[in-house]
Amino acid sequence: MITREQLIKKYLNFFKLKGHKEIPNESLIPENDPTTLFISAGMHPLVPYLLGQPHPLGKRLMNLQRCIRTGDIEEVGDSTHHTFFEMLGNWSLGDYWKKEAITWSFEFGTKILKLPVKRLSVSCFKGDTDAKKDEESAKRWESLGIPKERIVFLSKSENWWGPAGKTGPCGPDTEIFYWKDNTSPAPEKFDPTNKKWVEIWNDVLMEYVKDQKGKYNEAKQKNIDNGRGVERILAAINNFEDNYLTELWQPMIKQIEKLSNKKYQKNEKPMRVIADHIKASVFIIADGIVPGNSEQGYILRRLIRRAIRYAKEIGLENFTSKVALPVFKIYDDYQHLQKNKEHILKELEKEEEKFNKTLKKGLKIFNKFSKNKKELSGEKIFLLYQSYGFPFELTKELAKEKGIKINQKSFQKELEKHQKLSRTATEGRFKSGLADNSETTTKLHTATHLLLKALQIILKNDSIIQRGSNITSERLRLDFSFPRKLTKEELEKVEELVNTQIQNSYEIIREEMPPKKAIKKGARGIFDKKYGEKVSVYLIGEFSKEICAGPHVKNTCELGVFRIKKESASSAGVRRIKAVLE
Ligand code: ALA
Repeated sequence: MITREQLIKKYLNFFKLKGHKEIPNESLIPENDPTTLFISAGMHPLVPYLLGQPHPLGKRLMNLQRCIRTGDIEEVGDSTHHTFFEMLGNWSLGDYWKKEAITWSFEFGTKILKLPVKRLSVSCFKGDTDAKKDEESAKRWESLGIPKERIVFLSKSENWWGPAGKTGPCGPDTEIFYWKDNTSPAPEKFDPTNKKWVEIWNDVLMEYVKDQKGKYNEAKQKNIDNGRGVERILAAINNFEDNYLTELWQPMIKQIEKLSNKKYQKNEKPMRVIADHIKASVFIIADGIVPGNSEQGYILRRLIRRAIRYAKEIGLENFTSKVALPVFKIYDDYQHLQKNKEHILKELEKEEEKFNKTLKKGLKIFNKFSKNKKELSGEKIFLLYQSYGFPFELTKELAKEKGIKINQKSFQKELEKHQKLSRTATEGRFKSGLADNSETTTKLHTATHLLLKALQIILKNDSIIQRGSNITSERLRLDFSFPRKLTKEELEKVEELVNTQIQNSYEIIREEMPPKKAIKKGARGIFDKKYGEKVSVYLIGEFSKEICAGPHVKNTCELGVFRIKKESASSAGVRRIKAVLE
């Protein structure tokens, strides 16, 4: 049996020998990127570097990155899809290209992990009007020993990755599939529609940058973005057909079995959903989010509530914190998880209690709706579902008890109508582009540095630190540590000080150094953040010095006039300022 820890070590060792430097495993909550709620791939925090900014650690990078994908939420429940997962990634920033990327993928998979070639297949991009057929990758795989019948060419919907938002780096990819069935040999010919072939690897050949108009332009810098999921690889190398049978899930599944007094066999779907959603929730809370009604908080709420709904199917109650406990053992290497354990468990319990109350209210409404009725309309069932979080299955059960018919078809119709609406809304949100490096957001980013320093000076409190930053194309939002409301005079002084720095026309200079040296030289970093071996420090004249990934404008004179629009409380001990550049 190969453990998660061993797999990660083998991976990092292998790519270290190929000249890669390890970068930190970043928070699930993107910094300065309003266009996406969660980090969903290792490449997310790297967008500025994929677009050409030099990385302080060089051109070959690697890491283990925690990720959340909410797009797959409905697919959770099968044996291979998860909301939270870890990605092992390696990148070439304008350095090596297909030959090395593919050869090393093959070498690591077959020599280090010892995956038998006879259980592997690959797919390559078949070509269209945007980009040509990727014969080069196919030839490379063939030369390494993948038979021709095991190589297929697929279209953009299958073999193209990114951009993660509307615009940005992207390109064709070549994917490796593993035959997971232990009882029958892999067919000679690769049929990608056969679900027994599981994608375990993705080599993205980033040759393009998609622009606002949807056009794919050839990139100035060609990158490799290579990613593979720990969950799937660990299952493959240990001969498990179901990811949930690995050490990454078993302690949670066992706990669910114990608490519900039911077996995993025949209860796979609800148990997988519960384990997946609780694990994801633990990690989201650990990165500073609490259940709420908007943005990340809303996704978190949905995950916890969905877990509770599925728990009802197997008669599980008051379980969230108990099922969460094994997560801290499985991932004992995540310090921030251990440190926030009590807080995480409490948040889970609080949300569970809240939802149970909501459900009770829903029960009353159900009774009202169903009084003297023979049938419950789809609209009413939907109302129970949408406004009271009442699972359809629960309505169905109650109706059966009372001898009331339910109109499932019209409920489905209502549901589809709603899902279409919310999907459109979500797409709208995510389409506005990942790590929007537009001129406006870049300016607002520089203004954020000036604002933070101005706050430290005006409030005579050098220990004020950034607790969060969110920039849209309209405004900046800075959360910072400070115990009380700011006075009108203070806000005016801060505004004035920022504007003076803008008028000073300071050049912005980037320097690279190890984080220790940066801190020694007085550079400020983000609270609680782990940094890599080397960091970028941005200097704005003598005024501000911050560890930051950028990007920034060249000179403060580009910023215009800085205006604070609002100052409010964000959470205990944290204030929030929204400001604009006019
Ligand atoms: N960014 C690529 C993926 O997520 C590696 O599959």
